[in-house]
Amino acid sequence: MTQHLTVVEHPLIQHKLTIMRDQATSTAVFRQLLREISQLLAYEITRDLPLTTTRIDTPIQPMDAPKLAGRKLALISILRAGNGLLDGMLELIPSARVGFVGLYRDEETLEPVEYYFKVPDLMSERVVIAVDPMLATGNSSAAAIQKLKDAGARDIRFLCLLAAPEGVERMKQAHPDVPIVTAALDERLNEKGYIVPGLGDAGDRMFGTK
Ligand code: URA
Repeated sequence: MTQHLTVVEHPLIQHKLTIMRDQATSTAVFRQLLREISQLLAYEITRDLPLTTTRIDTPIQPMDAPKLAGRKLALISILRAGNGLLDGMLELIPSARVGFVGLYRDEETLEPVEYYFKVPDLMSERVVIAVDPMLATGNSSAAAIQKLKDAGARDIRFLCLLAAPEGVERMKQAHPDVPIVTAALDERLNEKGYIVPGLGDAGDRMFGTK
């Protein structure tokens, strides 16, 4: 992928996103829509995956047919909200390998601190897609991407549902080589770090917590 930011303005995505933003939408519907949108975004972020060919026999004749080249993809969920995107993507790419990055924010230093990190082997040979629904300040996403680079990843893409301009800028500064695919670029962050107009706390909305 070459572009730093891709906003996928597909009508199905925009329609589903509107329902997700609505505070009257239930947890069950929110989760289902996130699953559906994750598949549409996955379609976009994988559109340039390299192909090779394999010899097969159709019932009519032999042919050299396209198939994905190289190692299995690595999908990396940034905990905890990333898990809401992961499930749908795994339905679409069932052979993908899966990793998790857990970070929390130290309330004194405000720096992201790692509490969990488990990723597939051979990261340098895989296309790595990091997922987190909300790109807000970008601090934790940038830190998570750095951890993936430290683990050897070279071709990293970032998939989110909503992005704030502040988060996109932060990622561009820290990781200009990591393209971002999102369903919408919202206006700004509020004083509490929430995306405006946004959809609230994505983790709380998908897991029914407060
Ligand atoms: N994380 C969320 O879940 N929502 C926001 O608006 C910002 C960060």
